[in-house]
Amino acid sequence: MPSPTSSGAITSVLQETRVFPPPAEFARAAHVSSLEQYQELWNRAKDDPEGFWAEQAGRLISWFKPWDRVLDWNPPFAKWFEGALVNASYNCVDRHCEGPNKNKAALIWEGEPGDRRVLRYQDLQREVARFANVLKGLGVRKGDVVALYLPMIPELVVAALACARIGAPHTVVFGGFSAEALAGRIQDCKAKVLVTADGGYRRGKVVPLKENADGAAAVCPTLQHVVVYRRTGLDVAWSHGRDHWWHELEANASAVCPPEPVDSEHPLFILYTSGSTGKPKGILHTTGGYLVGTALTTQWVFDIKDDDTYWCTADVGWVTGHSYLVYGPLALGATCVMFEGAPNWPDEGRFWKIIEDYRVTILYTAPTAIRAFMKWGEQFPRRHDLSSLRLLGSVGEPINPEAWMWYHKVIGGGRCPVVDTWWQTETGAIMISPLPGATPTVPGSATRPLPGIVPEVVTKDGTPVGVNEGGFLIVKQPWPSMLRTIYGDDDRYKAQYWSDIPGSYFTGDGARRDENGNFWIMGRVDDVLNVAGHRLSTMEVESALVSHRAVAEAAVVGKPDDLKGQAIAAFVTLESGYAASEELRKELRNHVVKEIGALARPDDIHFTDALPKTRSGKIMRRLLRDIAAGVESGGDTSTLEDLSVMVRLRRFEQKAG
Ligand code: PRX
Repeated sequence: MPSPTSSGAITSVLQETRVFPPPAEFARAAHVSSLEQYQELWNRAKDDPEGFWAEQAGRLISWFKPWDRVLDWNPPFAKWFEGALVNASYNCVDRHCEGPNKNKAALIWEGEPGDRRVLRYQDLQREVARFANVLKGLGVRKGDVVALYLPMIPELVVAALACARIGAPHTVVFGGFSAEALAGRIQDCKAKVLVTADGGYRRGKVVPLKENADGAAAVCPTLQHVVVYRRTGLDVAWSHGRDHWWHELEANASAVCPPEPVDSEHPLFILYTSGSTGKPKGILHTTGGYLVGTALTTQWVFDIKDDDTYWCTADVGWVTGHSYLVYGPLALGATCVMFEGAPNWPDEGRFWKIIEDYRVTILYTAPTAIRAFMKWGEQFPRRHDLSSLRLLGSVGEPINPEAWMWYHKVIGGGRCPVVDTWWQTETGAIMISPLPGATPTVPGSATRPLPGIVPEVVTKDGTPVGVNEGGFLIVKQPWPSMLRTIYGDDDRYKAQYWSDIPGSYFTGDGARRDENGNFWIMGRVDDVLNVAGHRLSTMEVESALVSHRAVAEAAVVGKPDDLKGQAIAAFVTLESGYAASEELRKELRNHVVKEIGALARPDDIHFTDALPKTRSGKIMRRLLRDIAAGVESGGDTSTLEDLSVMVRLRRFEQKAG
């Protein structure tokens, strides 16, 4: 583990003193409405976690059978609500159809070409039950994994909930990933069925999802069926026997499919995310605890009420979409806006038009989008009536105070609290965040841990650091929505999260806590990059680069980027017989896109004749980070095997510059 002070990434010099107390009117009506109430809840949960979580579980989720035991903690393996029977699809759909909400809009959807659909809870129930029967008809049984590789259309939500209905864990693969990346995930979880579409729209173009799915299916022997939703009308290749049109299968499917009661610990989904190795890991979430965590945080952090129109802009391919577009808000019977496309297509006003058109009250988006909006200018939001908004959320990376202030002022009109929510794929739900009616907010800080969550900032040996000192962010107690393991690899789960600081969950993030008890997240301290809110490992991009015949060695580091937070810089040595050229640089970029997806395209590729290494052969990324960022290396180079490498790299940079 690197030291928290040797990494520039977590040496915070931020001195932010602006404080925004919750607006009185907001606080009066909020679920948690004062700092005292928050503190009481937090203390209560700390003193009696099982009592606290049992109360939340009973209040928020419908169980077919109650649990025998709240928590079985056999570190680092947790079982929550053991013995209980539950179903996520029942909680997100059916139970809302039993009362006055059956005609309430569950999903308000807008496609990129401007097509619109509204699915009421009753519609969602019918669609989910039908598709669950389709899956059953293809032989999917409880426990079988189903891969979903779809655009942002309602069918993605329908398919996920249909899987949950029959106890088939889903693995959603973001539509921006390549055929190779999709194949790797299908192979790892041995999915039997893949659900995709002919294509999806993005910035006026059609993303050829079926073509990628075909590429993946060709190398995935476990895959028996591919279900294809017709979205764009694009011509697609067809494998008879394997491929089926969604609409044809659905035409013959019954709309009655009782939700299958599953054990609270039954797998709900596997979501792949980047760690510090070349291979993404399958984060496993189970049913009962995950539902409790996402429903509770949706209620408290987003303060959702029955009449809200809530919009989480994230793609369901990421954990934010899972927890805060699908499971959390639908468990609470909320009305969710869902959109297909991009923030700047057909123009830079897309978000603001959606907010105006649907009278969105709560917006949850990412700092990278906010920084892009700032760059595009205030004229776009100013053209629209944003007065329906009452709460703003941010997620995915640290939000710089300038972006926070812009969001608060220009989008929120100065009246909407901003909740900066810190969490991870692994944590399943929000961990550190203001509660908008209770917590005074400070631009750039995620503020305080939610009730039931006990984080701490510590040194390498687990000792708590002092006020305002940087250290490693850990979580000390298990929580219901925590990952249960890395799919198929308990040892890696233990080693990755629970061995650096024994007995605690290590997040991979650096942080400090200020004199008011507010947490400031300072970014990753491992080899994980955060590029425009997308998580990538340096090793993953390196593996993609070295799989090209011209590349001998590659080292990838992040460099600061005003818009994306981090950009990708690659240092590459070439096999003999290959020479550096602009053409090769382009080819390598395209190669990475093919191996992983456009989100991993390197911004800079530096050709070099050697990489700076320690005597034991480890690449000194710290030095490369400095070169990529164009700053002088202040750090120690005494362990460098060959000092002249640095001199040559710098000289090369000057020439290139
Ligand atoms: O470094 C933290 C950053 O995103 C990482 C988790 O990425 P992922 O699993 O893809 O989940 C993103 C959506 C929850 C964290 O380790 N991160 C996430 N939210 C914040 C953040 N960094 C600072 N502030 C945040 N609010």
